[in-house]
Amino acid sequence: MHLFLADDDSLPFLVDELRRSAPEATLREIEGLGVMGDMELGGLLPAFARQTLPHVVETQAASINAWADRIIDSIAGIFPDDQPWRLHLWPQYGEGKAGMNRCDLIRAALAERLKKKRRYLLRSLVESEAAIDEQTSLVQCVLTSPETGWLSTAIAPLPYRHRSIISAFPQGEIPWAEDKSAPSRAFAKLVESEQRLGRWIERGQTCVDLGASPGSWTYVAVQRGAHVIAVDRSELREDLMRSPLVRFEIADAFKYKPPQTVDWLVCDVIAAPQRSIDLLLEWLREKRMRNFVVTIKFRGQDEYHLLDALKREVPPRCAEFHLKRLCANKNEACAFGSV
Ligand SMILES: C[S@@+](CC[C@H](N)C(=O)[O-])C[C@H]1O[C@@H](n2cnc3c(N)ncnc32)[C@H](O)[C@@H]1O
Repeated sequence: MHLFLADDDSLPFLVDELRRSAPEATLREIEGLGVMGDMELGGLLPAFARQTLPHVVETQAASINAWADRIIDSIAGIFPDDQPWRLHLWPQYGEGKAGMNRCDLIRAALAERLKKKRRYLLRSLVESEAAIDEQTSLVQCVLTSPETGWLSTAIAPLPYRHRSIISAFPQGEIPWAEDKSAPSRAFAKLVESEQRLGRWIERGQTCVDLGASPGSWTYVAVQRGAHVIAVDRSELREDLMRSPLVRFEIADAFKYKPPQTVDWLVCDVIAAPQRSIDLLLEWLREKRMRNFVVTIKFRGQDEYHLLDALKREVPPRCAEFHLKRLCANKNEACAFGSV
């Protein structure tokens, strides 16, 4: 069984999404947490799941030391020797700091125990939110009360293989990026997509920004030193219009074609979801970009099934593909990846 985490407001949509992707699977909602399912993980791209806990086991432990033991028992002799592993441990109960404190104490008890026995496991425990590589294993443990919870151990290379649904960020949560100088808060969507992809727009790269005004996504690319062709019907903020790195074009985003393959297509155009989906598929078919971040904006709650076409058609054309309702998204999802 796998556990897919979702915000409470996304839960019904995640259930629908999983049902469409895996009609044979048995699904069970876990209140306040997410959905359990017994499907194959391969090819699954649930946009409404923040994080996946593969092969999760319901766990009870009466004390802090017992929690530490449960975690050690789940990995000792199982994780490859001397290869890195990470631990995501968090509470999902009560108000205030009691749960956080308990998790800190469990971490300390775990370190103490490993210091005495199996020191090699302590040496290879890594604290990082960098993209997960092929060698890295992952333990996820969520406490739903002081004495109950769910424990998932994913042995390398499973977390890497399923990196589009197993996040390097605990619970799959990324705080909204802050930058008061950006033209709008929309810049946080592009930054979050880069973080999830583990790939950033770089100095000297070329970028097409479709639906660019007022310019937050262009602003991010310019900050990174990239050259941007910004396409919109309205101009960008004045400083961006003057930037030597920006070429502004008044054009229809859906008709624009770049003169040659660009490093990044970024597109946040306001349009019916099917139009943005078709645009992404056309750019992929024509091999016009090497990386992409495209927002799909919904007009209500009955269009989410349109994402299924992306789940079918994009992965065969990409080295990496993520489809997520981002922490920084409202009624949107973001499709991002590398060709
Ligand atoms: C949400 S805003 C983009 C915000 C931008 N990413 C930012 O961070 O500043 C959407 C933009 O899409 C533009 N847009 C909508 N339809 C378009 C079209 N067919 N061609 C070009 N731009 C379009 C709108 O003018 C608007 O500026």
